[in-house]
Amino acid sequence: MVFRETILKRGSQEVRTKDSVVGNMARASKAIALMFYKGLGPNGMNILVADEKGDTFYAHDAYAALEAVRNNFSHPVGRLLHEAVKTLDREVGDCGKTFCILLGEAVKYAEILREEGVRQANIIAGYGEAIEKSIDLLEEISVKADRSYTAKIVEMVYSRLPLTANEIHTLTRLTLEALEHVMKSNGHLGSLDIDSIRVKNKLGGDISSSFLVRGLVIDKIWPGHIQMPQHISNPRIALLTAPIEIKKSSLKYEYTVSPRDVFQLKQVMDGVAGIYEEACDRLAGVGASVVLSRKELHDLVLEGLARRGIMSAYRFNDEEIEFLSKATGAKPVHDLKSIGPQDLGDAEAARQVRMGADRWIIIDGCKNSSACTIVLRANSFKALKMYERAVIKCLRVVKSFLSDQRVVAGGGAAEIAIATKLRNWALTIGGQKSLPILKFAQCLEKIPLQLAYNSGKDGIEILSQLRTMHMNGSTFYGVSSKGEVRDMLAMDVFEPIKVKKAMMAMLRETLTQLLRIENVVIAKQIKGNVTTR
Ligand SMILES: Nc1ncnc2c1ncn2[C@@H]1O[C@H](COP(=O)(O)OP(=O)(O)OP(=O)(O)O)[C@@H](O)[C@H]1O
Ligand SMILES: [Mg+2]
Repeated sequence: MVFRETILKRGSQEVRTKDSVVGNMARASKAIALMFYKGLGPNGMNILVADEKGDTFYAHDAYAALEAVRNNFSHPVGRLLHEAVKTLDREVGDCGKTFCILLGEAVKYAEILREEGVRQANIIAGYGEAIEKSIDLLEEISVKADRSYTAKIVEMVYSRLPLTANEIHTLTRLTLEALEHVMKSNGHLGSLDIDSIRVKNKLGGDISSSFLVRGLVIDKIWPGHIQMPQHISNPRIALLTAPIEIKKSSLKYEYTVSPRDVFQLKQVMDGVAGIYEEACDRLAGVGASVVLSRKELHDLVLEGLARRGIMSAYRFNDEEIEFLSKATGAKPVHDLKSIGPQDLGDAEAARQVRMGADRWIIIDGCKNSSACTIVLRANSFKALKMYERAVIKCLRVVKSFLSDQRVVAGGGAAEIAIATKLRNWALTIGGQKSLPILKFAQCLEKIPLQLAYNSGKDGIEILSQLRTMHMNGSTFYGVSSKGEVRDMLAMDVFEPIKVKKAMMAMLRETLTQLLRIENVVIAKQIKGNVTTR
């Protein structure tokens, strides 16, 4: 404890000796894994989370639960796991609970192995090799799937979430329509550009009133002038990145206005209005009929544009400008003097619609027509957030599937198949390293075991049945949603191989990092981000 006494403030904590570090890690990882055991699979329980602001909601996946409590972990392992699950979620959108459970189990067995006298270096190497081999085995047990599986994957992701039948139906329909739209314009779905599907939400109405816009939705609070046109066919779109304004002089000056000068003051004001009129003329002159500006537009500009039959909206951030540019083909213009017809983008129609108390501009049929927007409606903000997160998760899983159109059987079938093969392989390795490999096989079996428990069945009984089936070469057998041993591929329960591979890779990285930790220093309050990379 020398470190703490010499340089750390009172109240900080240091865990130093090797044994207690491993024990400490194991307890923290297990505590997090414990959050998710009962939530795993189609019969999993929801997690009720009260976040630091006091908001309470049902977290339907690992990332949502960890994200809500991320600032309240008293142990750094909590932060590490949160970062790992976040990365996994961004990359592939799924497998967060499976990851936490496997990590918790692996760390628990690492502690047992150490107590049995296996050296830490061998535990780390053994686990590393076991996971490496598992990734290879995933390839072996994967099957080729075609694009028709996309619909099944979408439905499967939504049906795993705590949604009603009506919600699942609407979200599945909208997601498939959006994917269909992207596919039509791309010609294929192989390289699905997920960024071209946007999700917007609007309070009011219920889920059935959600809809898909085959184009862009501009939901600015300041969408241009009240008298601008309601509908424009084949609009030409200008994107402005610099403000239309009168440059302020750098000279400091003072002036007083006397009644004699009023006429001159009016001249100055007319001059200013003239500059704005000139800007509007310039935009109308190059043929723009929709003006979208990154910066605020002056009232006189908005009015001038409306008078010329031009729609306008402003205050877009860089990301929005980039998206608008990609979708419409418009080039962002910085200097209005240099704008030309070649800088304008195209679409089929631009129209104003009323959404509750707001006015939205919808741009249909953009030049790069793969852009589309799913508009979600709900009566509560929490429901809206849940739908939005569900759609984003689903799109990420679909993207993973389409980038490598292979799947592995779900319901724990892939895990038990790998565990069976790992055990045989460990026998050929021998030495201390084979022990962590065998333990890792045991970790994997926790998934079908827990799926069986969660469906109210005797996990051990189901697991032994599954082991026998897999030993006899029935590679696709797992635990069905009714807790029965079934061929998962025949039941259309599968997961994209890319999701599983990403989960395994993240597991290897995080596990190695955790097991390599020599000592843990805990300041009273953990602040800032902890990264796993
Ligand atoms: N209909 C089903 N029948 C049997 N098993 C299923 C079914 N649907 C999903 N599963 C299995 O449930 C497990 C996934 O559960 P779940 O979605 O709760 O956790 P996760 O994907 O690991 O984590 P998260 O979704 O929170 O990121 C997988 O093993 C999957 O094969
Ligand atoms: Mg899942």
